[in-house]
Amino acid sequence: MNNDKFFDINLKRWNELVDINAKSQMYDLEGFISGQTSLLPIELEELGDVKGKSLLHLQCHFGMDTLSWARLGARVTGVDFSDKAISFARELSYKLKIPGNFIESNIYDIQNVLDEKFDIVFTSYGTICWLPDIVEWAKLISYHLKPGGIFYIIDGHPFGFIIDEKQEPFKVGFNYFFEGEPVYFDEGGAYADPMADLKNQASYQWDHPMSDIINSLINADLEIEFLHEFPYTFFSIHPDMKERKDGYWEFTNFKFTVPMMFSIRAQKKI
Ligand SMILES: C[S@@+](CC[C@H](N)C(=O)[O-])C[C@H]1O[C@@H](n2cnc3c(N)ncnc32)[C@H](O)[C@@H]1O
Repeated sequence: MNNDKFFDINLKRWNELVDINAKSQMYDLEGFISGQTSLLPIELEELGDVKGKSLLHLQCHFGMDTLSWARLGARVTGVDFSDKAISFARELSYKLKIPGNFIESNIYDIQNVLDEKFDIVFTSYGTICWLPDIVEWAKLISYHLKPGGIFYIIDGHPFGFIIDEKQEPFKVGFNYFFEGEPVYFDEGGAYADPMADLKNQASYQWDHPMSDIINSLINADLEIEFLHEFPYTFFSIHPDMKERKDGYWEFTNFKFTVPMMFSIRAQKKI
């Protein structure tokens, strides 16, 4: 299936989101510029020491997380298909004197522009839902890892994507399983600024069940070290959610615990 028309629409929205996100409280660009890390405690602890390691960050947005890993001693390369995000990341790297290589590319075209193998491939918070083909995704991760290299992801749990945010209480409104066709969204606000008035309101996203994520990694020669699930997530996906002190969001009145976020650490077979 050719997904170019969906990528084009998503790219327009992502380009528009760069300035909105960079000005938002959620991204706290000022804090990052003044030396704070944009990384959250879970990935810092679960990925561990990156000093002296080469790190490829997939879907790096405008580079704050990528450069935060660089501040911890990694040699970083960030890839994103948004030209706006990549220029912003390059500017940040230059102004803050934090070395980083930023590449503008759809992740499915990455092998045309990058042939390097890395110690670490990292991706986080809002990535998989933008990707139609999870099998190809796992293969390109594996291709860019050295034998023994580490893949780490932290992202929204596929279970969380079935929730219809417009219905209270908690109601299922979307497929859990991958059905091939993307889901169409029409949203004027942005996740980091719900009051933003976006021109590019359309986007297309894909659902991938946890089994597809895990199996695609296993089939691409990655050995899973752990899969963790969390009952909270990184942005508000339902009106019943409230922000916690650590920046994550959780349900308040909904009385059951359900998986909202996951992390996986895996090693490329030696
Ligand atoms: C939510 S952001 C990534 C999260 C990142 N941790 C952040 O918030 O800074 C999603 C990123 O995926 C990028 N993206 C979406 N589809 C892509 C694709 N097919 N290839 C490369 N980048 C893509 C967008 O441009 C955006 O920068």
